[in-house]
Amino acid sequence: MAKKPTAAIVLAAGKSTRMVTALPKVLHEVCGRPMLSYVIDACRSAGIERIVGVVGYQKDQVIEAFEGEADVTWVWQEDQKGTGHAALMCRDALEGFDGNVLVIAGDMPLVRAETLELLVATHQRQHAAVTLATAVLDDPTGYGRIVRDEYGNLQGIVEESDCTEAQRAIREINPSYYCFDKKLLFEALGEIRPDNVKGEYYLTDALHILVQKGCRAVAITAVKPEEAVGVNSRSQLAEVGRIMQDRIQHSLMNNGVTIVDPPNTWIDVRAEIGQDTVVYPFTYIHGRVRIGQRCAVGPFAYLRDGTMLADDVVVGVFTELKNSTLGEGTRARHLSYIGDAQIGQRVNVGAGTLFANFDGQRIHRAVVGNDSYIGNGAILVAPLTVDEGRQIAHGSIVRENNATPERAEP
Ligand code: UD1
Ligand code: MG
Repeated sequence: MAKKPTAAIVLAAGKSTRMVTALPKVLHEVCGRPMLSYVIDACRSAGIERIVGVVGYQKDQVIEAFEGEADVTWVWQEDQKGTGHAALMCRDALEGFDGNVLVIAGDMPLVRAETLELLVATHQRQHAAVTLATAVLDDPTGYGRIVRDEYGNLQGIVEESDCTEAQRAIREINPSYYCFDKKLLFEALGEIRPDNVKGEYYLTDALHILVQKGCRAVAITAVKPEEAVGVNSRSQLAEVGRIMQDRIQHSLMNNGVTIVDPPNTWIDVRAEIGQDTVVYPFTYIHGRVRIGQRCAVGPFAYLRDGTMLADDVVVGVFTELKNSTLGEGTRARHLSYIGDAQIGQRVNVGAGTLFANFDGQRIHRAVVGNDSYIGNGAILVAPLTVDEGRQIAHGSIVRENNATPERAEP
């Protein structure tokens, strides 16, 4: 059978009372990026070319965060009447589209592309009207429970607040990864009624409606427990962040980076680190940071957005870098602040060097040429250019046009 096209609906309109926040929940960051971006990326990696995001609470902020991402269109759900109502809002946006529709929640950033691919492939192979990917958890608290009949056939999903005592004990749960036949999805969505404890239109009821009509509903237990953790509270945000951090670190380690003490290291998902670089404990790497090969970073290093280290660079203890480039073989071993600086190759940045990049109004850049030697405790006041091979004495305050002597031959 030819592969049908697949579109995705990503639900992101909720206000999220449980987060106690003014920011839309899906914009809260996980390892440096908004949680929604992981869900959208997982869809892309699974080969989905058309993504519809449902926004509501503070919608403009969400849309702005994804500006320029042309494969995502946005639909407004004015009142948040439930996940079923949210999905129904996408009818017009998917007008003329025929195929499969994935529906996933924007607060599930741990979703993996492999799981979505398997979900869609199973859905096609089984000629199903709806296919779910489920997880089995030791503690199913808070999730919709998967109800099957005595033969194991899928019957429906019951939200925790509507569960009977027996249903509450079910450990197979709904992580909110669904694949529907597009036509049947919108038919079912039109029939959902808000007759539940919360008075909401539940997407989960679409499943029950399709089963009642005799349509084929399939559930595959394909979601690892860690992948089923959604973000409904700040505690879950931290839990998801920890799992994501482990993934990031494992991926770096698999690519030849040594992380001496993973639990005491934090690396942004946007960071790139080259082979045989060693990251020592208590290092915090935040933002778009690029680190070359064979570098040593930390302990206690703080690398911020825009830091670029070439190969064989050493950044040591209590050194902070921001929006700065360090050339090959350059060393900043102790206690420095390097902000908005472009430092050449084989430069020695002495202990306690400070780049004074901010004059109270504006940020200025400093350039330091190759093979220069910056003594301990120097303050380099930007804007500033230090030529190649210069010697800056310990304790100097260097300003633009100050003469700096040539470095004595070592
Ligand atoms: C939902 C599922 C539950 C599942 C759980 C997994 C339903 C009824 N329940 O519950 O079975 O176990 O996810 O995490 O679907 N949203 C909207 N518009 C709305 C309401 C919600 O866009 O009107 C969005 C939210 O922003 C969120 C997602 O839908 O991203 C899920 O909503 P949430 O309130 O978190 O549902 P859960 O209670 O977690
Ligand atoms: Mg949720």
